Amino acid sequence: MPQIIHQTESNLNVKNIKYLIKQYQSPFWVYDANIISNKIQLLKKFDIIRFAQKACSNIHILKLMRKNNLKVDAVSLGEIKRALIAGFKKNSDEIVFTADLFDEETLSKIIKYNIPVNAGSLDMLKQLGSISPGHRIWLRINPKFGYGHSKKTNTGGENSKHGIWDPHLAIPIIKKYNLKLIGLHMHIGSGVNYEHLKKVCYAMTKSVMQINEKITYISAGGGLPIPYQLNEEPINIKKYFSLWNKAREKISQFLNKPIQLEVEPGRFLVGESGILVSQVRAIKNMGNKNFVLIDAGFNDLMRPTMYGSYHHISVISSKNREINENKTIETVIGGPLCESGDIFTQKEGGRIESRKLPLMEVGDYIIFHDTGAYGASMSSNYNTRPLIQEILIENNTFKTIRRRQTFEELLSLEQ
Ligand code: LLP
Repeated sequence: MPQIIHQTESNLNVKNIKYLIKQYQSPFWVYDANIISNKIQLLKKFDIIRFAQKACSNIHILKLMRKNNLKVDAVSLGEIKRALIAGFKKNSDEIVFTADLFDEETLSKIIKYNIPVNAGSLDMLKQLGSISPGHRIWLRINPKFGYGHSKKTNTGGENSKHGIWDPHLAIPIIKKYNLKLIGLHMHIGSGVNYEHLKKVCYAMTKSVMQINEKITYISAGGGLPIPYQLNEEPINIKKYFSLWNKAREKISQFLNKPIQLEVEPGRFLVGESGILVSQVRAIKNMGNKNFVLIDAGFNDLMRPTMYGSYHHISVISSKNREINENKTIETVIGGPLCESGDIFTQKEGGRIESRKLPLMEVGDYIIFHDTGAYGASMSSNYNTRPLIQEILIENNTFKTIRRRQTFEELLSLEQ
């Protein structure tokens, strides 16, 4: 839920943001550790919470998750390395590698570190089994349907490359290589609706019965939504848990053994904890449209350009001028990049939208809310723009958890 910066009890309030603006060069990301801790508490009924670090993979955020007894998911060798640096242990189930393929280097490190694999293809099982018999594995099953806030985040069904379509075909491979099947996993996409959820729970139960192997875990995957709009309702976690818990009980009865229920959220844990702070650098009229151009681009926050995602916007004035929330003007917010798609107020498919925002002046600041998930982690160096700073507010202190990349660092790879 977008934090109202003038009334929020969280640390993402005007006073703190103004303090940071004075200290640091915009644009920058800010996270509030309290919000993350509160979100973790909401999921405590699950036996295991596994953070999908793709949403926000900063080592310090990972350490925070570890301190709160979470486990972690990794989808690349880079994410495995981050998890290890943050203190998650190899030779355990603290890190699980989820993918649909292995590259050679990742495969060899996974075997060396003895990290369980959540396999999304039969080829992964063959490649792993032939050099690491006995390795602990999960099967990621494609339940033949999916759901997502955008077509690009739907991870089930025929148009998705994710997961195993016919899990029973995995069993002979598992047997051949003596792989140790410990769990089944389903993630249909980001954004939940309860009807889909019921179908996933049913599909999970059916898959377990079909395979009929003595697994220990089932994973509900991630995909728990957050309210990006002010008037949106948060997901009912009680209902979400109870649907999955019923599936777990059925499975447990069928296999006649206790089953651990795991959940694997990214966005739900960190999305609302983060904001992006940027500065207005130019204002111009294009025909009838009022464009406000800021110093952050889609190289920083990619979601609006990639999916047409909505991020709530607040304005802070640079001087002591009062921002009049009631005196608004239809505004298009754009960034500095050399592309027309570098617009933060757009719908999926690139349709430019305007938003009613207070009248701004050059030098004012724009805050994008709920950017803690898939904000910094999706940034790029496009237009040779350095990665920007990340700041964590924890125990009333402001800590730089990633400094701004220098041009020398950026260019050094080519020299
Ligand atoms: N588990 C698996 C296997 C996943 O593929 C994902 C997300 C998650 C968990 C976490 O999903 P979450 O709880 O964060 O929705 N870049 C997009 C989201 C892509 C999600 C990819 N997989 C965005 O900005 O919305």
